[in-house]
Amino acid sequence: MISALGDLSRERAGTTLNATGKVLTPGFIDMHSHSDWRLWANRRAESKIRQGVTTEVVGNCGFSPAPVSPEFRDDLRGFALYVPKGMTFEWPSFRDYLHAFDADGTALNVVHLVGHGTLRIAAMGFARRPPTAGELTRMQRLMADAMDDGAWGLSTGLIYAPGSYAQTDEIIAVARSAARQRGFYASHIRGEGATLLDAVSEAIRVGREGELPVQVSHVKAAGRPNWGNVPRALELIDAARAEGIDVRADVYPYTASSTTLRTLLPDWALEGGIDAMLKRLADPTERARVRAAVESPSAESIVSRVGWENVMISYCAKRKDLEGRRLSEIARAQGIDAVEAAIQLIVDEAGKAYMILFQLDEADLRAALAHPHVMIGSDGSSLAPYGPLGEGKPHPRSYGTFPRVLGEYAREQRTLSLATAVHKMTGLPAARLGLRDRGVLRTGARADLVVFDARRVADRATYEDPHRYPDGIEHVIVNGRFVIKHGEHTGSLPGRVLTPP
Ligand code: ZN
Ligand code: CU
Repeated sequence: MISALGDLSRERAGTTLNATGKVLTPGFIDMHSHSDWRLWANRRAESKIRQGVTTEVVGNCGFSPAPVSPEFRDDLRGFALYVPKGMTFEWPSFRDYLHAFDADGTALNVVHLVGHGTLRIAAMGFARRPPTAGELTRMQRLMADAMDDGAWGLSTGLIYAPGSYAQTDEIIAVARSAARQRGFYASHIRGEGATLLDAVSEAIRVGREGELPVQVSHVKAAGRPNWGNVPRALELIDAARAEGIDVRADVYPYTASSTTLRTLLPDWALEGGIDAMLKRLADPTERARVRAAVESPSAESIVSRVGWENVMISYCAKRKDLEGRRLSEIARAQGIDAVEAAIQLIVDEAGKAYMILFQLDEADLRAALAHPHVMIGSDGSSLAPYGPLGEGKPHPRSYGTFPRVLGEYAREQRTLSLATAVHKMTGLPAARLGLRDRGVLRTGARADLVVFDARRVADRATYEDPHRYPDGIEHVIVNGRFVIKHGEHTGSLPGRVLTPP
């Protein structure tokens, strides 16, 4: 804990650190992370801790590794993109999962959300229909139990199967279970392109009728025809706040997004799960139907809003040679069209390839960064530039988000002040979580701290060369222990799973 602040020159200390000319802040809280998968194999949390992140909020976008029902365990495992050693999905309860997660320690603290997709798989597999009354009750009970066991709230991923199969009423019903135990609702909303505003309104409705706070995840307007809509989305958030609903959002400081390649497919292509999808794509008639849907210009079709030259393959398990290349170019080299190249790659990689989409607008991004109720969330994971975690060309946000806000957007572009930038990584997310003893520098608060050089702090990870740590983050302390000291990882693992106050 922080035991004193101020002029301590007369005090005696075990260790003294000279930080003259540097900035001392609370440790950063990554409001939107997917590290629940990677941290199992990367206890050192390399790419995050080196940015100054001391707490990550995981279980986002509707997907968490628990709870699991034995009946649908294989469906969940097949759906997971990355299953590290030790992740058995054998936990009888959310509490058992948290225990397993916590057993070996982590470099940083972790806050766990429950994914609605995971709940839905546990209750009804990959069925593309509304739940029966019994199935809905089961989801609600699993949600309530997970809250008892240490979860902080519910997340949805409404562009991803099976989350996308849910109607709003279902989500409200599950959200109410979380609300009863003071959880919040984080949403990857149903549309981030042409239907952005409707999707924000739906998230707000869940907050209003579910009676819980709402976090709009990675707010953006995707696709050139939709640029300029982020300020409108923020107006909806402001209006809801004026109505008394606690709505906030998070953003990452890049104009490209990233997700799985299979997201290009219509959501019905995943009905029944990954194996069913692969079977469908192996059948010429079915494949032609999928293909037609990919090409048809619909409101949220990714293909109709970004050109294939703006789709970069970022990770493949097998076709390593394709990483870093654009789909337009891959198709040309293979002498087929881009839709065919994409579908073939989804098949060859069994649905586990990733892409980066260059589809966002800089002015929209600045509007989000400057908005008082938008905080920072990376949407990335704890990676490392060595071993299996150093593979591919993942989105640079996993390495650069926080230093990029401080360096590029606060110092260089002056989109926001340094103090505001820090607040969006500390006090603001702490307020969202209801964390009173983190995210602040105060006597009695937990000693999660960062020392950085405001003149030098900068991200170095790029789309071409993403596995690069930032500059200027000198010391990072988690729960009173150095994890980064003079820019080097100490190997210390003082982080823990946090449970709600
Ligand atoms: Zn998402
Ligand atoms: Cu996400």
